[in-house]
Formats: sequence, C-alpha cells, structure tokens
Amino acid sequence: MSNGSRHLVAEWHALWLVHFFFLWNTIQGQIRYTIPEELQQGSVVGNIAKDLGFGISEISERKLRIASEGKQYFSVDLGKGELIVSERIDRETLCGQSASCVLPLQVVIENPLQLHRIEIEIQDINDNAPNFITIKSILKIPESVIPGARFPLESAQDPDVGTNSLRSYTLSTSEFFRLNVKNLDNAGKVPELIIDKALDREKQSVHQLVLTALDGGNPVKSGTVVINVAVQDVNDNAPIFDQTIYKTSVSEKAEPGAVILRLKATDLDDGPNGVLQYYFGPHTSDTVQTTFSICPDTGEVSVIGKLDYEESKSYTFNVLAKDQGLPELEGHSSVQIDIVDENDNPPEIILTSLSSPVQENASVGTVVALINVKDPDSGDNGKVDLHVSPETPFKLKPSFENHYSLVTDSRLDREVNPEYEVEIVASDFGSPSLQTKKLVTVKVLDVNDNPPLFSQPSFNVYIKENNAAGASLCSVSASDADQDKNSLISYSIVDSSLQGVPTSSYFYINSENGTIYSLNSFDYEKIKVFQITVQAKDHGSPSLSSNATVHVFILDQNDNAPAVIYPSAIMGSVSHQKMPRSAKAGHLVTKVTAVDADSGHNAWISYKVVEATDASLLGVNLYTGEVRTKRAVSEHDDSSQRLLIEIKDNGEPVQSTTVTVGILLEDGIHEPISDFRQKAQEPGKKSNKITFYLIISLASVSAVSFVTFVILAVKCVRHSRRGPCCCMRRADSDGYENPNRNLQIQLNTDGPIKYVEVLGGDMSQSQSFRSCFSPVSEFSDFTFVKPSSTTDFKEMINVIDASLPDSAWTFEGQQVRIGNRMGICA
Ligand SMILES: *[C@@H]1O[C@H](CO)[C@@H](O)[C@H](O)[C@H]1NC(C)=O
Ligand SMILES: *[C@@H]1O[C@H](CO)[C@@H](O)[C@H](O)[C@H]1NC(C)=O
Repeated sequence: MSNGSRHLVAEWHALWLVHFFFLWNTIQGQIRYTIPEELQQGSVVGNIAKDLGFGISEISERKLRIASEGKQYFSVDLGKGELIVSERIDRETLCGQSASCVLPLQVVIENPLQLHRIEIEIQDINDNAPNFITIKSILKIPESVIPGARFPLESAQDPDVGTNSLRSYTLSTSEFFRLNVKNLDNAGKVPELIIDKALDREKQSVHQLVLTALDGGNPVKSGTVVINVAVQDVNDNAPIFDQTIYKTSVSEKAEPGAVILRLKATDLDDGPNGVLQYYFGPHTSDTVQTTFSICPDTGEVSVIGKLDYEESKSYTFNVLAKDQGLPELEGHSSVQIDIVDENDNPPEIILTSLSSPVQENASVGTVVALINVKDPDSGDNGKVDLHVSPETPFKLKPSFENHYSLVTDSRLDREVNPEYEVEIVASDFGSPSLQTKKLVTVKVLDVNDNPPLFSQPSFNVYIKENNAAGASLCSVSASDADQDKNSLISYSIVDSSLQGVPTSSYFYINSENGTIYSLNSFDYEKIKVFQITVQAKDHGSPSLSSNATVHVFILDQNDNAPAVIYPSAIMGSVSHQKMPRSAKAGHLVTKVTAVDADSGHNAWISYKVVEATDASLLGVNLYTGEVRTKRAVSEHDDSSQRLLIEIKDNGEPVQSTTVTVGILLEDGIHEPISDFRQKAQEPGKKSNKITFYLIISLASVSAVSFVTFVILAVKCVRHSRRGPCCCMRRADSDGYENPNRNLQIQLNTDGPIKYVEVLGGDMSQSQSFRSCFSPVSEFSDFTFVKPSSTTDFKEMINVIDASLPDSAWTFEGQQVRIGNRMGICA
C-alpha cells in the first residue's frame, strides 16, 4: 500500500476508537469488538483485561492468552491488558463476499482456568477497486449486424462488499455503441454492448471502447478494460469499375496477343470479398469472344483473333467483375473497341464488259470496256484513282462512282497496232498507297482503209522493137497494209487508147500476180514510148484501188537503112550540082544529107565515096557528108564528075544505102554569094534602110512573139489546172530524151541553098507544130504540114523535099527546131 493509504488507515483508526467505546457501553454480556480490516500491527482493539474484569497484575499471573484456530491475528499486551492486532487482517481473505465477518476468539486464563469467548467483527473498508480479468478484450462484430443487437461484456470483480462493492459501469462515448447493465439476482451487474448505429467496416473497421467499472466506496475506485471492436467484413460492396464505358481504338493490324485495354474495378470489401475477377458479360457474342479475351485476374483485354475493319468497324460488349464473397457480387461496365482502318486492301479492278475487237475506224470516244473499281478500305484508304498507261490511245471516262468506261482517245490504226495491251492502274490514297494493275487486251479489227500501194509509182519497161507477141514484159506488184480480204489484190489495166486502139488489146495483165504480157509486136519507128496505167484493187468492201504508170520504152533495133534526103532522087535519077572551074581546093561543092529512122548508134551515119570519076578531085567528109574539092580544078578535069557515095549507119547489122552525086564544072559562073554581096553593097543607102526596117520588123515580131508566148503560157497554166492535157507536160521527159531527140532541119548559109540537114528528132510524140521562120524569109508562107506519130517518116521527108524549091532558099543561119519539148498546146 501507498503512503497515502496508510495515512487514510490512521484516520480510520481514530474513528473506530470512538465506536469502540460506544459499543462497549451498549453490548452487555458477550464481549465483541468491531475493528476495520487492514489495521496496522500493534493497533489496540480493546482493553480485554478490563473488559473481562481482571486487574493488570492478575492477567500476567494467570497467564491470559488468546487461543484461536489458524492464524493468530491478535495478541494481548499483558502489561496493559490490551488486545492488539498482530497480523494484517484482510476481511476479503477471511470472509470473502459474505456481508458480515466475525472472528471468534477464545481467551484462556489459568489459575483457575477460565475460557472467555470474544468476537471481533471485521468491518470492510474499500480497499479493492473493481477489476477486469482481461486487460484488453477483442470483440468481433460483423458489419452486417443491425442496430439494437446486444453483445455481453465481461463483468468486473470487486471483492469489497456492501457499498464498497461494484456499483456501476461506464463506456467511452461512441456514436455506434451504447452500454446497458443488467442486474442479475445472483450474478450482480452484467454489462452489455448495444449497437446503436449500423456499422460499416469499409468506413471504420476497428472501434476502441473503454469500459469502466465503478464501486460505491468513498472515494470511488474503478477498473477499466479496453474493448477493441473489430468490425468484421461482410460482402456488402459490389465491385465498381472505374469507367462506365471503356473506349479505345486499335489498328486492324494488331497482332493476336496485343493488349488493348486494362479493366479496373474496385471492391471496398476485404479479403475474398474484395478479390476480383473479370469476365465477359453474359450474352456476349461468340464473335467478340473469339476476337478478344479478358484475363480474369488482371482485367487485360487482348486481341486473340483477326481484326478486320472491313468486317467490323467497332466492337461493343459488356464486362463484369466478380468478387469472391459469398454470395459473390458483380460490377458491370461496357467496352467499346473501335477498329482503325489500315490501308491493307489493294484496290480491285473489275472488268465488267469488254468489247474487243474494236473496229479501227471507231470514232473517238467509242466505249471499249466497262470497268469497276473497289477498295474495301475506308476514307482515303478506300478512295481510288484509276488511270491508263498514257501511250495508248485510250482514256478512262468516269461514269458514276467507281465506274469507268474505257474509251478510245484517238483514231486507231490496225496497221500500226493490231492489238493494245492497255494497262489500267488503280491506286488508292492511303499512305503508303496500294496499287493494282490490270492488263486489258484490245484487239483492233481491220477496216479497208488502205489502198494497195505499188512498189513504185511508175515502172519503166524496155522492149526491143519487133518483139515476139505474148512475151511477158515485167511484173508490177502492190501491197496492201490491210488484212485478209482487204489486202487481197487484183491487178488490171486501166483501159485507155493507144493510137486509137484500146491498150487492153496490146497488153494483158495477170490479175493475180501483176505480170504484164504484150500481145503485139512494136515498131520503134512508129512508137517509141507509151504508157499504160495499171490498177491494183483490193477485195475490201468498198474496195480501194491505186494506179501506177508503166512506161513502156521500145528499144531501137537497127531495122532501117539510112535514107538520103539531099540530093533527092526525086529530082532526077542523078542530081547535078554546079561548081566553077575556078574553085580552089577545099571548095564546098555540096553536102549529102541522109537520115536514119533508127536512133542512137543505129542512126550514126557515115559517108564514104565508093566510086568517083576522079577520086583525087572530090572527097566526102566521113561525118558531115560535105563534098569538097581536094585540090584546085584544072583545065584537064572532066566537066562532069560523078560520085557514088555509100551511106552506112553504125547499127548491128550495118544497114547502108548509096547515092550518086553528079557535078558539073562550069566556066564563068560566079559565086552567088558574091553576087548578093555586090547587090547588097551597090545600093549602100538603100540597104541601110532595109537593115533599119529589118531591125524594126524583127523587134516587132519578137514583141508579138513574146506576147503570144505569154498568152499561150497563161492559157496553158489554166488548162493544166482543168485537165491533164497540156503541151508542157513533156517537160519532165528527160528520161527518154534519147529516143525523143529533136528534129533539126538546118539550112546552109551559103546563099543559094545547097543542102538541107535533118538532125533527127522524135515525131511520134508531136501532136502538131508550126514553123517559126525568120521574118527575113521570103517564104513566109512556108509551113510544115503536121506529121503525126502515125505518119511514116519517109512521107515526112518527102513533104520536106516537096516544100523546098531547089536553090530558092535565101535566108541565113536559121535553125528550125521542131520538138515536143518546145511543143505548143493544141
Ligand atoms: C504469174 O503467174 C503466171 C501464171 O501462173 C506465171 O507464169 C508467172 O511467172 C507469175 N509471175 C510471177 C512474178 O510470179
Ligand atoms: C485510176 O485510173 C482510172 C482511170 O484513169 C481512174 O478512173 C481512177 O480514179 C484512178 N484511180 C486512182 C486511185 O487514181
């Protein structure tokens, strides 16, 4: 005990002394002392000697002592005769909970032996506080308990009795709990805990309460116990997802196993009540379940199947989270997964119709094919641009969405391209863009659009005259770029007339291979060149044709002997030339002129004296035919000379002819030229005048000729526009200049005409010509009658002969050119 308590005991001692005297007075007979418990050793209970009526001396003599069973709490002070406390007295030990506690004592006194009985009543003091057995108690209460429920609490013990015993309980304040104390008859006061308000473990899982027990002593003693109320979890919270809907997007290229999303739910409950697992909601479609999976423990949503934006653009499904309480609770949410389109589909080109072959003459814009494009991707990934390879004559014409027609963009030409491989490229606008190519073969159908073409615009054929009829001349060939029937060619001769006879009677053409045959024999001297027109015609419908000219040149053969023009045999069997005896050596006596109807070498003429009266006097020039004196004429020379001249051509075989020239040597004849000169010199003034007139008339004739020429030229030009008939058309005939040589008739200039020279020419092509004589001619009425090509050459020569009055030509140095080159329009 503490010092404080001792002090209290001392006070109590004093109080009890007062009581003792009072009790002494009132109690008769039996001695009874009343003392409080827990007195100090040595405390005087009472003067037992005096109370028993013994003197002090007597008690020691008679050996007064206390006899008691058990512990000796008291002893007697023999000196003073007082009963004193020798041992601590705990009423609770002696008497327990009984309300009165009396210790009986026997007082033994000898001599004589006397027994006295005394009683000592031990009175309770509040020396015990109420006490709980457990210092800390734990009370488990499920949170689900309803308000009003009662839970018994441990009662406190207080050994003290009476008012010192347990009087009441108090509980620390709590809004959830309240205390109730039951009074049981034999068990005393029993405290109970009443739930005042619903508990929630999730808000407060432990409540700490202090229960205090109080006794009724003065001062009051108390004992406490701490009660920990553990609120036990009940599965009263469903899992709650952190989002009511989970939205996410994933590329359609996502590989299986890719985690897209993590579900997260919370459950406020504890233990298994708060352990969550995630699942698909009920009624989730198989499609979703085969495409996605949810990991039950982690809540991860991952891809397990193949995503395809084109199949499904979005998935929405319900998910739930379950705890493991009993019964289990569920939370719900939904998931929306949008699939992001990737450019994973190349465009598709569908040829819905193709009209091949297409005619080569199809007009621009003709539809060849109908094309459709598709791209299942969306947005730009699904937009398709279609184009064709630019080097083809086709283009695309969009009709309506994603439909195109392939049309011709320019004229087709089967001959250039019989078939086109049109490459159509579709590319989408994705990034990177995907492309598809398709080849469309367009065949081009032939149309007869090409005329046959001859291998040359004109053909030259050379045939020797006197050819055998029926020989093949040449072959012409033409080709046609078209196909099949359109390129099958037939040859024919376009009928025209040749010297009044249709060409078809001269020639035959093999219609299949173009070989030309002559049906006639030709005479170079009659006809040297002519042309036929051959036609090649295809079998198309309508058919096309083209013409080519075949120039047939008849080649000269030496089939004509030279013909003597001068001196003419018509004028007599022998023509006589006169020459003065005074003639010196080299004097030109005459000139033999011969022509050969052949041409070229066949017409090269040479002159040779075969026979002569006097070969030393006269000779003939080999080439010119001039007969000249070799020496001066002498007195002895015969006045009549004869020359037999052989005229040969240069052909193979050689053809020749002869002419006899008679010459008379005369005395006293003068050179006519000198006469003329004398005449001219005599009237000097007159001749000057004549010369002046001549110049004037020459100038005026030239002017007239020039004007005439201009008018004719203008006419010709007009004419040539209207038709093919123009005299100038032969201007390009250089190719056959040789056979068309000009005919020149040259007159000698030595006063009286001594000879006429025909230099050869081509009559055949001449339609007509007029003579163009010098105005000085005294024979201005001289005209050539037109020799046509059909005229015999010899006839013409006769005509010339007839027109030439012997020795009457007096003009000088004129050349008359007759030829188709200078031809004039008829
Ligand atoms: C053309 O046909 C005829 C008759 O069949 C033949 O004689 C000739 O040689 C042919 N010509 C050519 C160039 O083939
Ligand atoms: C071919 O010549 C004939 C006769 O001259 C003519 O009718 C025809 O038009 C010509 N054909 C061609 C393609 O020039």
